[in-house]
Amino acid sequence: MKVLSGIQPTGRFHWGNYFGAIQQYIDLQHGNEAYYFIANLHALNTVRDPKALSGYTLDAALDLLALGLDPSKAILFVQSDVPEVSELCWLLMTGTPMSMLANCHAYKAKKEKGLPADVGLFTYPVLMAADILAYDAEIVPVGEDQIQHIEVCRDLAGSFNHHFGEVFVLPKARVLQATAKVPGLDGEKMSKSYNNTIEVFEPIGPARKKIMRIPTDSRPMEEPKPDYEGDNLYQLFSLFATEAQKAEMAAMYQKGGFGYGTVKKALADAAETYFAAARERREKLAADPAGVKEILRDGAARARKKAGEVLSRAKKACGVA
Ligand code: TYM
Repeated sequence: MKVLSGIQPTGRFHWGNYFGAIQQYIDLQHGNEAYYFIANLHALNTVRDPKALSGYTLDAALDLLALGLDPSKAILFVQSDVPEVSELCWLLMTGTPMSMLANCHAYKAKKEKGLPADVGLFTYPVLMAADILAYDAEIVPVGEDQIQHIEVCRDLAGSFNHHFGEVFVLPKARVLQATAKVPGLDGEKMSKSYNNTIEVFEPIGPARKKIMRIPTDSRPMEEPKPDYEGDNLYQLFSLFATEAQKAEMAAMYQKGGFGYGTVKKALADAAETYFAAARERREKLAADPAGVKEILRDGAARARKKAGEVLSRAKKACGVA
């Protein structure tokens, strides 16, 4: 299968990015033709500081490699290193109804708040469609919030194919049920824009502090809590726990008589252990930025080859080649 996904370098990756998406990237690199990219053109919609954007882009590559992305298995590259995608984006835009984009959630949310939106935000889903279609991707591993965009991609590809013949492969989103929408520290979806994140490689001390400050419900600790599955702390703990650890924690909630500090400490310990090996790998990788840039260059060359083929197919089909 051809697998593709992208992630924005708008800051450092958080637990939601990891459990919703990155974990899938790593699983799917085995036995598939996998393309993963750092979506710096999309990030330009929000990061308007060149130093920060190029810094986050390199950080993103370091994070992905440290977390287990293997460049001998998957193709890792930076979005802007494949200019073919931007050209393909134009071809798609010529057949994109405004009403379809006006309905997309990022643009809609901004409009509803009465905030001015840029054309880049409005057309964001079309660039994302081009990202996916340029590699004939069949499977797109993402979190729940990207499903709408993949539907747009399918619609655009379907309508292009309808007009010009079978050019594009229609992709499918792949979402993990249990981690489709990882909650943040406040129980809302974990997201940079809600300021409720813990970063994967957040230094241990500050990460622990954030965890210890997670708001908890005010029921007395003696009471059993049978609805533990809806508890934010339990959900976060579950991300890192084995089945046995989860069962033990569930039994504790059902029995009652514990303080939330106990769960918070268990969560902090579990998260620290979970990412310990990746943290070490990241330190080593960070000492060799030239090596990481070489991986990205090589990835871009391979990605361009594929995107070039698809672009020329699309251009021929619509009469501009
Ligand atoms: P981005 O950068 O916002 O997020 C990257 C990935 O992380 C997932 N994610 C989550 N999953 C579960 N729970 C959460 N709280 C959570 N927060 C984030 C996202 O669903 C996503 O999979 N538009 C994309 C980037 C992109 C792309 C693409 C993705 C550009 N082109 C082509 C796939 C295919 C985005 O903004 O993701």
